[in-house]
Amino acid sequence: MKNIVVLISGRGSNFKAVYEASIKEKWFDVWGVKIVGVISNRPEAAGLEYAEKMGIPTAVIDHKNFSDRESFEKVLIEKIEGFGGELVVLAGFMRVLTPLFVNHFKGRILNIHPALLPSFPGLHTHERALEAGVRIHGVTVHFVSDVLDGGAIIGQAAVPVLSTDNPDTLAQRVLSKEHVLYPRAVRLVATEKVRLEENKVVMDLESSEQLAIF
Ligand code: GRF
Repeated sequence: MKNIVVLISGRGSNFKAVYEASIKEKWFDVWGVKIVGVISNRPEAAGLEYAEKMGIPTAVIDHKNFSDRESFEKVLIEKIEGFGGELVVLAGFMRVLTPLFVNHFKGRILNIHPALLPSFPGLHTHERALEAGVRIHGVTVHFVSDVLDGGAIIGQAAVPVLSTDNPDTLAQRVLSKEHVLYPRAVRLVATEKVRLEENKVVMDLESSEQLAIF
């Protein structure tokens, strides 16, 4: 799973974190792993500009031009494979994926979700964590299944919830952990240290230690 395609919809800070780690840690020289393309469903996604600046091939596939999810996904699959993509990294990609897409890349799609799953799947996770009064919040990287935010968990990072927090301050603190966890998880899956086998995540002790961040 050496060739990574990143899917974004907006800012792209997680994409940037993964890309920067791949350069700094020389993923290509050591394992032959690289980001071969970035695809956005929104033409205005800021992450596209960064990708272009870094010389990474980009594409826009605007979901609004398709009448249903499956026809959008068919084009998305073609584009990913056109880039030579083997591992799909969702980084703030704001589209629900159907079984068509998920089964096509089974065990080869990662997502990052800003909460400690299985708590708070879906949107507005920071507001909901504050509302629930949890003392520890965080972020999860998981394999994508056809249940929204429901796939097998790869890694998690914990973040304290402070009495002074509002959704923005909490989101900031979670985001800085996202940028540590996601590059690590992507590297371990791309190098097949971590894999999905019969819907369970399999990894060695060393990887498991790296994927639980406190
Ligand atoms: C992140 O909080 C990520 O966890 C969620 O969407 C946000 C994307 O941010 N899935 P960015 O585009 O990577 O900056």
